[in-house]
Amino acid sequence: MHYIFKVLLLVLLFEVSSYAIEYPPGVLGKTVKLGEDIINNTDTHPLTKDLVQSKLQCRNCHLKGKDGRTGTTQNIGTFIGTAGAFPAYSSRYKRVQTLQERIDGCFIRCMAGKKSILNTKAGIAMTSYITWVSEGTKVKMNPKGPRSFMITKIWEDKKKRFKPIIRRATHANYLEGEKLFKAKCAACHGVNGAGNKMTPPLWGKDADGRWLSYTADGSMSKLDNSAVWIQSNMPLHQANTLSDKEAIDLSLYINAQERANLGTYSIKNNFEQFGLDINKIRGYKLKENK
Ligand code: HEC
Ligand code: HEC
Repeated sequence: MHYIFKVLLLVLLFEVSSYAIEYPPGVLGKTVKLGEDIINNTDTHPLTKDLVQSKLQCRNCHLKGKDGRTGTTQNIGTFIGTAGAFPAYSSRYKRVQTLQERIDGCFIRCMAGKKSILNTKAGIAMTSYITWVSEGTKVKMNPKGPRSFMITKIWEDKKKRFKPIIRRATHANYLEGEKLFKAKCAACHGVNGAGNKMTPPLWGKDADGRWLSYTADGSMSKLDNSAVWIQSNMPLHQANTLSDKEAIDLSLYINAQERANLGTYSIKNNFEQFGLDINKIRGYKLKENK
């Protein structure tokens, strides 16, 4: 009871601290607003709802900051400074990537997108929104990868620290992750990870067989990225309260559950990247799906 009350109070304070937002004038402002709307309602917006399988919105992973705008968090997932990092070298594709291409990548891999949104009204609008959020920050090409300079150092430092811990993981870490999930996350995300109207899904399918969350190809399914993101953003409104071990155990548990895969990576690969056998970690065989 106390816990719920604390969370409600925090939500209230957070909403009150947001202030009126001024958009650029004319068509540009309309485009930015459209982009914001799609980023906030990706799985239901008329321009994108038929193009994504998951029940996710971009804003679920690129959280609001103090000004109330999506993607202005100071933590991992911020869009502040992102536009200034593009065009960026992508080690995944071994070429220079534009911001719209980066967005398209997240659209496909994070949201189980069915089709590219490159140069569509939605792709252009989301690119305009993210550029607007980056306004006033410096142009800074990033040799470490396609991302905002604001968060590069946090990513790099934490991933370096987390990697050796992940490599040593066993079934005990998985069980610990399950216990933590039930204690700290399931109240909002559901014991089955399926989420609800207020909270996005973390894994699994709905009754119609539709995959609910991010794919095994998305950044969030990589054990190190996911642990960094979780520590930096969850539990909601309690950023940076989980220990390294807790964030890693949660990442192991969540990313060992069933999710869509696009054919390039799989849940099994994501564990193999750290020298881990998914079936040993889970304690029983995972049925991998396409
Ligand atoms: C108070 C409710 C609440 C709690 C507790 C909570 N979450 Fe979340 N979580 C959310 C909401 C809401 C979002 C989406 C944020 C948004 O859209 O602004 C989210 C987003 C996420 C996402 C990214 C989106 C997705 O569905 O993949 C992950 C991963 C996640 N949470 C993991 C966790 C983990 C792990 C814990 C436990 C340590 C946790 N959450 C605890 C409410 C909660
Ligand atoms: C399930 C979580 C998730 C969802 C949903 C998601 N993203 Fe991402 N996104 C991430 C993660 C994690 C990264 C960082 C990946 C990395 O740098 O390795 C990222 C990176 C990005 C980047 C690069 C920015 C930077 O500075 O790192 C952009 C741009 C982006 N996402 C846009 C979007 C858009 C637009 C959508 C909706 C169409 C979206 N994302 C949906 C998790 C998500």
